[in-house]
Amino acid sequence: MADTIAVKREWADGATLSDADYRAGYERSLADPEGFWREHGGRIDWIRPFTRVKNTSFAPGDVSIRWFEDGVLNASANCLDRHVAAGRGEDTAIIFEGDDPAESRRISYAEALEETCRMANVLRADGVKKGDRVTIYLPMIPEAAYAMLACARIGAVHSVVFGGFSPDSLAGRIVDAQSGFVVTADEGVRGGRKVPLKSNVDKAIAIAAKGGQDVSRVLLVKRTGGEVAVDPARDVWWHEARDKAAATCDPEPMGAEDPLFILYTSGSTGKPKGVLHTTGGYLVYASLTHAHVFDYRPGEVYWCTADVGWVTGHSYIVYGPLANGATTLMFEGVPTYPDAGRLWQVVDKHEVNIFYTAPTAIRALMGQGDEPVKRASRRSLRILGTVGEPINPEAWLWYWRVVGEERCPVVDTWWQTETGGILIAPLPGATALKPGSATRPFFGVRPELVDAEGQVLDRAAEGNLCIADSWPGQMRTVYGDHERFEQTYFSTYKGKYFTGDGARRDADGYWWITGRVDDVINVSGHRMGTAEVESALVSHKAVSEAAVVGYPHDVKGQGIYCYVTLMQGEEGSEELRKELVGHVRAEIGPFAAPDKIQFAPGLPKTRSGKIMRRILRKIAEDEPGALGDTSTLADPAVVDDLVSNRQNRR
Ligand code: WTA
Repeated sequence: MADTIAVKREWADGATLSDADYRAGYERSLADPEGFWREHGGRIDWIRPFTRVKNTSFAPGDVSIRWFEDGVLNASANCLDRHVAAGRGEDTAIIFEGDDPAESRRISYAEALEETCRMANVLRADGVKKGDRVTIYLPMIPEAAYAMLACARIGAVHSVVFGGFSPDSLAGRIVDAQSGFVVTADEGVRGGRKVPLKSNVDKAIAIAAKGGQDVSRVLLVKRTGGEVAVDPARDVWWHEARDKAAATCDPEPMGAEDPLFILYTSGSTGKPKGVLHTTGGYLVYASLTHAHVFDYRPGEVYWCTADVGWVTGHSYIVYGPLANGATTLMFEGVPTYPDAGRLWQVVDKHEVNIFYTAPTAIRALMGQGDEPVKRASRRSLRILGTVGEPINPEAWLWYWRVVGEERCPVVDTWWQTETGGILIAPLPGATALKPGSATRPFFGVRPELVDAEGQVLDRAAEGNLCIADSWPGQMRTVYGDHERFEQTYFSTYKGKYFTGDGARRDADGYWWITGRVDDVINVSGHRMGTAEVESALVSHKAVSEAAVVGYPHDVKGQGIYCYVTLMQGEEGSEELRKELVGHVRAEIGPFAAPDKIQFAPGLPKTRSGKIMRRILRKIAEDEPGALGDTSTLADPAVVDDLVSNRQNRR
């Protein structure tokens, strides 16, 4: 194999899979999915064991996905009680590292169980019942994990909303999920700056009420002690309710296919979709992938830097690691506060063995040079991971050489909110690595490349990435809209799950993800629909029309490039540009702030009025020579203006 990096296996022992193990396991998982998943379904505890394993169909008009369907279990009991029952109550479940480097705390499994039970009792006393949706809008504090597990414990469905979302975005999710309960904090704190969570919730509740959804209860965690408005009829302080609540709570027996959570994610059209995951298959898959992709061993400290507001936080901070009895580190802060050495100082401080982050963080830190890394010993590190966006070989090699000193395998893990867990990734110790490749499919996963006509491509090829059959972690539906689920994922290529990503398979059978092939952009690992940014822009009074595309950005992966047509009489000033950036931040959230705004008198449209995004992408990429055929445009002359006023000239 050309250009591969063989991984030293001096730490590999009986617990680590070999290349032969991987090949044999993978073969078997495809040849006998029933037998394979029957065996691995047993890695978690069932209140009533399943007898049926797989009952799935990708058939057009009849998509239905069920795993372990007659089994009964509880996810929180799997993540907490069973470890305590096995005598591991004093093991550390969560290491909390605050935004302030002086603040950290270790929480044992026994303590996490007690806190979760208390919160479950408080939610129940507030009227939350099995099946109710609870919105969680919290910073990266242990209470976020307790809140998720407390919902799971009583059979409520959590919908975690990332703390960076605006009141409007939060309200939209509350309304769509028909959620009458919110768990939040007074304020968050990141990089020394306060985030006004409670005040955002108050605004969101007012907006949601106009949308027809009332919120009857807000459970309020005191994080900073900052001044917040409290409505005594609706808001309950967690620290007060906690002390009155019982410390034990029987876990609700849940069917394997009962919903565990909803998580909103962006697609190419319309408003964000509520991705629904259920209990049994999700937990088996999160747990098995966490164990193998990170080669987790008992006693090790595992750190994923994601936020619990994204799927990575769900599967690989909370459910996967805790189901495996691991020690999971929750970090409240950001990689560059107080300085660019923070991550590596935390690695040394808590002797982190496994470290999992996003390429955007690696690129940002790479730009600060090697010194902040070298200031820390990083002796404890054994495995490094990445997720969220394609990693360029340069950043991969820096991670491998400088951070890991060529001793820690880098696992580039490809997956999605929809997939529940990792689908393509190396197994450390087993898989020879190639910088920039997610390498090989996980057990039971059947990736396929398909061309625009739906033809399956063999051998080395590039095309659209589909998955040919179901795996236990797969999403089950779009909350409240099964038709949209079928339409979005199963109608493009009949009988297959279409990921929205492009990929290449090389001659060694390795997979290289090339990025989205739809109108989704990935900015610093944050997934966004260009349509969402467009609708935020056109909601401004000066804007008549907007088109948004991604363009390559050195640190963020992709930047947000907006073409904006103004209303008659409006002037495209620098001031208006700033105002529009602020407007999008306020409408969606700070992470959606446009990088470039180009005022455009007209947009390139076909005679039927469809915007030709291909042309806008090329201009944003500063490749005006590669526009292709523009003769089908209603008014080809608009292109000249767009090209000469482009904002991204190199
Ligand atoms: C992208 C995050 C390349 C991809 C877990 C996918 C990646 C989208 C990788 C899902 C990777 C994620 N290499 N691209 N290792 N991991 N992506 O739903 O475009 O927030 O479709 O889930 O991120 O983003 P999501």
